[in-house]
Amino acid sequence: PGLRVQVLAEIDSTNTELMRRARAGDTTPTLLVAQAQTAGRGRLGRAWKSASAAGQGALAFSLSLPLAPPDWSGLSLAVGLTLAEALHPDLRIKWPNDLWWQGRKLSGILIETAAGGAPVDAPRQVVIGVGINLDAPEADGLRTAPAWVREFLPALDAPGLLQRVALPLLHTVLAFEREGFAPLQARYAARDVLAGGDVVLSDGLTGRALGVSAQGALKVRTDAGVREITSAEVSVRPA
Ligand code: BTN
Repeated sequence: PGLRVQVLAEIDSTNTELMRRARAGDTTPTLLVAQAQTAGRGRLGRAWKSASAAGQGALAFSLSLPLAPPDWSGLSLAVGLTLAEALHPDLRIKWPNDLWWQGRKLSGILIETAAGGAPVDAPRQVVIGVGINLDAPEADGLRTAPAWVREFLPALDAPGLLQRVALPLLHTVLAFEREGFAPLQARYAARDVLAGGDVVLSDGLTGRALGVSAQGALKVRTDAGVREITSAEVSVRPA
């Protein structure tokens, strides 16, 4: 069917819009870019605000397509790794998929699937949302300072940034459907922010991060032994 590409001046959220379409039965592979989002969403139910109020300070887009991988785990890590590799050798990844530049967050990824009661091995429409800060944000004094792309690629604009990441992203998603996360494990490890350090999980668990498994789980050595954290509902921070 090819890839449908759409650019909107404003939408509540590119993920919300593509999930609405997926639930209405639209399975056309679609790349949807928004110049501004009025209700951008992050992981764990958080809001995601573009770096500048005008929406020009960030690239926000979502990719929607039907996918039937044998195992879904690790898709978000694969996407994060792909963005990091497409943008800079020194970009690192905080599990599962936040891009970090010099200890500050550059971008986030929100992946959602529309299952709709289909059999487990049937293709599901997946919506992969990517938000990347392009410019310095307006200081709000609340959030910890983020990073932005023009710190290290000063001449890049939003179309140039999209051009740089879109094809690698598509390639990764299609390769993931066949091979899963395992072929990417070593490359991910090379950019892993948390590995070797102490971490605190949002469920209260603390321990030493040991890296990620071939399925993309975060391995943490705790007093009770090595735990593999897979839940998308757990957040983790350096201790
Ligand atoms: C996170 O860091 O928690 C994930 C942020 C994801 C933001 C992007 S912007 C494009 C897409 N639409 C959304 O509403 N969210 C994602």
